[in-house]
Amino acid sequence: MHLKVLTLPGDGIGVEVTREAVRVLETVARKFSHTLAIREALLGGVAIHKTGNPLPPETEALAIEADATLMGAVGLPEFDNAPPEKRPEKGLLALRKCLGVFANLRPVRTSKALLDSSPLKNHLIEGTDLIIVRELTGGIYYGSPRGILETDGRVSAINTMHYTREEIERVCRVSFQLARNRRGKLTSVDKSNVLECSQLWRRVVTELATEFPGVTLDHLLVDNCAMQLVLNPRRFDVLVMENMFGDILSDEGAVLAGSIGMLPSASIGDRRPSGVWVGLFEPVHGSAPDIAGQNKANPLGAIGSVAAMLEYSFGLTQEAAAVNNAIEAVLNAGKVTADLKPAGPPLTTVEVGQAVCEAL
Ligand code: IPM
Ligand code: MG
Repeated sequence: MHLKVLTLPGDGIGVEVTREAVRVLETVARKFSHTLAIREALLGGVAIHKTGNPLPPETEALAIEADATLMGAVGLPEFDNAPPEKRPEKGLLALRKCLGVFANLRPVRTSKALLDSSPLKNHLIEGTDLIIVRELTGGIYYGSPRGILETDGRVSAINTMHYTREEIERVCRVSFQLARNRRGKLTSVDKSNVLECSQLWRRVVTELATEFPGVTLDHLLVDNCAMQLVLNPRRFDVLVMENMFGDILSDEGAVLAGSIGMLPSASIGDRRPSGVWVGLFEPVHGSAPDIAGQNKANPLGAIGSVAAMLEYSFGLTQEAAAVNNAIEAVLNAGKVTADLKPAGPPLTTVEVGQAVCEAL
C-alpha cells in the first residue's frame, strides 16, 4: 500500500514522541513493503508563534489531503490566560471538526508488565481490556452560544451542550459495531437524571440497540461510571459517551494502564472513496511542558497511535498487531521511561523508540 501520512508534532513532548512514532512507522512500512509519503505541518502553540494561527490553512489543506494524520500534543503554558479562541487547543478542536472525526476510540488495556506501575491494586486492574468511545465533534466543546459576557458591569460566562439525533446515532453505531467484534457489551454513559442532552442520548442508543441483537446494552450515569472504572474495570467492554464525559473518563482510564503516556487514540470519520477511513491519531496525553525537551517522555502512547492508524485507517491489521506486539515485548523487557517506574534505570524517549524498532 502507499500510505500518505501527515504528522503534526505540535508542542512540548509532542515533538519528541512523534519523532519516535514516525521511526516506528518507517520501520513497519519497510518490514511489510509499504511505501510512505510523510509530510509535516504546524499545529498548536508552535503554529501560533510562526503564523499567528493555531490551525494554519496550509495545515488544514494537508490534513484533508492526507490519508491519515498523526498528531503529537498541543498546549503551552504561555497561552494559559489566552481566550479559548486564541489557544493552541483551538487548533486541535478545529482540526477534529474539519476532518469530521466524530468517533474517538481510546482503548485501555492493562499489560501484565505494568501492573505495578498503577497506584491501584493489581487484583482490581488485572485483565482490564476496554475501549472508551468519545463523541468528538459535538457537545459542549462546540456548542453555541458560548463566551464570557459583560453586561452592565456584571460578568457571566456561558457554554452550551447541544446534540442532534444524528450526532448521537453515528457515534453509537460505531460503538455497537466495535462491541459486536469484541465481547458484545456496550455501556452508554450519560447524566440523564439531570441533562436533556443525556435523555436524548439514552433514547437514541436504546432505539439503535434493536439493530444489534448480539450486543448487550446497559446505561450508567457518568458519576457512577467514574467510580466503577476504578472499582471494577473488568466489567467494561466498550463504553460510549459525549465529548466532555469522554475527555474526563479517559484520563481516569489512564490510571488503569499505568501511565497516561501509554494511551493511544484513534479518531475516525467517514470512509473515503479510496476505501481508507479518515483518521486522526494522537496519544491521549498532553504536551507536558514540565518535561519537554528532556528526552524523558514516554513515546508508547504515540507509537500505539501508529498501530491504531494502521488498523483503523488502512485496515492493516497484521502490521498493527506487529507494532502492538513490539510494544508488549519492550514492556516485558522493562525497557520503559521513568513514568512507568522501572526497577532499573529508566530509558530515554529515543531509547524506547529504538527498542520498539528493534523488536519489530
Ligand atoms: C484530549 C485533550 C484535548 C481535549 C485538549 C488538548 C483540547 O485533553 O484530547 O483529551 O480536551 O479534547
Ligand atoms: Mg483530555
